[in-house]
Amino acid sequence: MAPIRKPPKAPWQIWLDAGGKLSWLRLVVLVLLLTPVAIAVYDFYTVGYGARPINDVIHRTGYWALLFVMMSLAISPLRRIARFNQLVDVRRMIGVGAFVYAAAHITLYIADQKFDLGKVVSEIVLRLYLTIGFVALLGLTALAATSTDGMVRRLGGKRWQRLHMAVYGVGLLALIHFFQQTKADVWIPTLVAGLFGWLIAYRLLIKVRASRDEPPAWMLAVLAVVVSALTFIAEAVGIGIAFNTSPLRVLQSTLDFDIEMIRPGWLVLGAGLLVVVVDLVRSRFAKPRRRIAAPVTAGKRAPEAA
Ligand code: HEM
Repeated sequence: MAPIRKPPKAPWQIWLDAGGKLSWLRLVVLVLLLTPVAIAVYDFYTVGYGARPINDVIHRTGYWALLFVMMSLAISPLRRIARFNQLVDVRRMIGVGAFVYAAAHITLYIADQKFDLGKVVSEIVLRLYLTIGFVALLGLTALAATSTDGMVRRLGGKRWQRLHMAVYGVGLLALIHFFQQTKADVWIPTLVAGLFGWLIAYRLLIKVRASRDEPPAWMLAVLAVVVSALTFIAEAVGIGIAFNTSPLRVLQSTLDFDIEMIRPGWLVLGAGLLVVVVDLVRSRFAKPRRRIAAPVTAGKRAPEAA
């Protein structure tokens, strides 16, 4: 009888690579995924959670779920621009991390409603921002449930790829949910929206060029300027509508660079130009400037996803 071969790692040993060896990249991402928990515990014992502790943690989990969705979307562009193919190995971890935080978010919301499921359902149906959050959660659940190697095989590369395009919709809906529930200052939602805009615009650029080669640095610089300009304009229009004032006047004042209150548009420009610097450095030192190949997982070519 043939000996039963032990798999190189148990499914929960997510810090090991497919061959069962310690992966420093996975370990770093695992620490990153646990950082919000560490911050929450630290805050609990130092500043505390205020009058509505569950609500505080609902906000934290929602915030991190959204950021991890954005980080998972940043993997493909970063992998290409930094010529760092191994990055794709941690995209699934980050995506599942986003789902875990979103699941904690809804669970805490249900706890906040004293586990009255009837009330939870009626709130989700009646309040548009909760309906939108719910649809985003359904999307994230479908993505997490189909993230295993087995599901990739079962669905087939093409269908799996098509399904995982839903992550763009999830990101957009989660952003709308974020904007809708933010009562006062929309500085952070605007910044996240600007960065999301860059991630989408980069993909559109890749599609329009229809080439597997990297876009040249000048194109990335133009992309940074255009997305930053759109962030400034969107912010000015939003403030203009909210405060019934002229968007042009708002635009003028937000374009004035103020180090004490840097507007999201400037930070989006900074992030976009940082990408250009990474591209310039890597195209010079990563030899030769290779075409990006499909990543390899567990000895098989993994489908290219969002
Ligand atoms: C059924 C699904 C969901 C429900 C019922 C829900 C509910 C809530 C509630 C009650 C708040 C706080 C609102 C307030 O205090 O006024 C909130 C905030 C938030 N939620 Fe959700 N949510 C859902 C899904 C999601 C998903 C899937 C994401 C992200 C992927 C998300 C991201 C956020 C963010 C970013 C905030 C704001 C956090 C902050 O203030 O920093 N939510 N959500």
